[in-house]
Amino acid sequence: LPRDLYLPRLNSQGFEFGDRVALDALLSEIAAQTAPLTAAPLIDGVARRGTARPVLSPIDSTSVVGEVLEATPEQVNQAVVAARRGFVTWSRTPADARAAALERAATLLEQHRATIIALLQREAGKTLDDCLSEVREAVDFCRYYAAEGRRLFSHGETMPGPTGESNVLSLRGRGVFAAISPWNFPLAIFLGQVSAALMAGNAVVAKPAEQTPLIAALAVKLLHQAGVPKTALQLLPGDGAIGAALAAHADIDGVVFTGSLEVARSINRALAAKDGAIVPLIAETGGINAMIVDATALPEQVADDVAASAFRSAGQRCSALRLLFVQNDVADRMIKIVAGAARELKVGDPRDPATHIGPVIDREAAARLDAHIVRMTLDARVHFAGRAPGPGYVAPQLFELARADQLTEEVFGPILHVVRYAADQLDAVLEAIAHSGFGLTLGIHSRVDATIDHAIKRLAIGNVYVNRNMIGAVVGVQPFGGSGLSGTGPKAGGPHYLPRFALEQTVSINT
Ligand code: NAD
Ligand code: ALA
Repeated sequence: LPRDLYLPRLNSQGFEFGDRVALDALLSEIAAQTAPLTAAPLIDGVARRGTARPVLSPIDSTSVVGEVLEATPEQVNQAVVAARRGFVTWSRTPADARAAALERAATLLEQHRATIIALLQREAGKTLDDCLSEVREAVDFCRYYAAEGRRLFSHGETMPGPTGESNVLSLRGRGVFAAISPWNFPLAIFLGQVSAALMAGNAVVAKPAEQTPLIAALAVKLLHQAGVPKTALQLLPGDGAIGAALAAHADIDGVVFTGSLEVARSINRALAAKDGAIVPLIAETGGINAMIVDATALPEQVADDVAASAFRSAGQRCSALRLLFVQNDVADRMIKIVAGAARELKVGDPRDPATHIGPVIDREAAARLDAHIVRMTLDARVHFAGRAPGPGYVAPQLFELARADQLTEEVFGPILHVVRYAADQLDAVLEAIAHSGFGLTLGIHSRVDATIDHAIKRLAIGNVYVNRNMIGAVVGVQPFGGSGLSGTGPKAGGPHYLPRFALEQTVSINT
């Protein structure tokens, strides 16, 4: 079937910031959400004891958002054993009922939007704009995987019959999936992983990032409320050691991971070292994402798109722009207007709707970024050096490098590196991008079709954005994910995602 026939218009509605009345109403609703929260290991729906730790806000690291009870290694085993039991009933639940639970979860997310936003702001330091986008993305994941799941899991696919038999290919859950997620999309990526694994008929043990356990606990509460059985979804707040113990557990049938390349590699090694069946890993990691701007690009559009791609969300998106290649002929002008756009961005408290850039996730991240800025100040030409309003904040920075290979790793913050190239050096630019080994996002600003085609064909990059910004992939519309060092695929929010969480079975009946 053509996709439009089975997929209704699913994407959730945006928010009109120009509607002052609606904005004021939303802001007062968000401000009223002040209750402190707790995240605890949740095994079969029962909150367990754990090692208590305050959850501090990145907005001001002295304010406590809530408390997390971090899971113990014994609870990792208890959660996996409980999920194994949960798998038996959940995998036999009809696909339609599984999808309906995810759709109810999407509606609950919309109904609790103000509570979620208040928490995203305080726990993850996100601006209002980013919070609204994140809630929409989470809602979209639930509805999209529900719709795709109905199509893929309700009936088997009848295969051709040259053998004179009935041949039917079906998908079914693999078993217990470990879902290990990052802090930068603590709701959307957490729910994207969990909802996909559940829709495919798996039971899930979820291990959210240590920086954002409260949002994960709220998401799990809503999924349980929506009808996902408590045995089918277990929650283990904790740090990397809990994630490592979960991935290494002998009774896991699959791992879905989003985060750094280094951790993806360590999970891969742990899975490879296990005896028994080979356990699949779906890993989505980072990138040294580039944008190419040639002499035909429109300067004002470039300025807006570069500023959004490099600085929005404090540069804490895996899709964010890190390395901007600008053709010599227009480089001085482009750099000047990009610096001008960076200067206009307000850095500060994310609860102020006028803020463009909130804090970075924690003091360790701020220290890493500050150290990079100091290095760049010595090694590169400084075109713009924004001033942070206080500890924990990093303002936009614009550095010019002599060579692209001076940037050797993903710098996860609002720091942009520019490299100039001559008109006859496009192939060298493409070679430099390919040489990094990452393949997540690429931006191209050019009015020359041959340049655009050539870049797309030369580079195996997961998401290519032409004459626009390079962030904010829309679920079901712009399937998202990279290749090479950026991940294993499949693409989140795309039609090939769910089957990777499933087993295939062919039944041939001699009729
Ligand atoms: P991270 O790798 O430090 O942590 C991710 C998760 O892994 C956390 O839950 C963490 O506790 C857990 N973890 C840490 N060590 C572990 C171990 N040894 N075994 C198992 N689990 C372990 O990443 P982060 O700092 O939370 O997130 C930022 C990174 O995520 C960036 O590199 C970014 O590019 C990437 N990211 C990628 C995508 C994508 O779709 N490709 C999306 C968002 C973020
Ligand atoms: N899906 C997120 C984006 O596209 C990471 O920016």
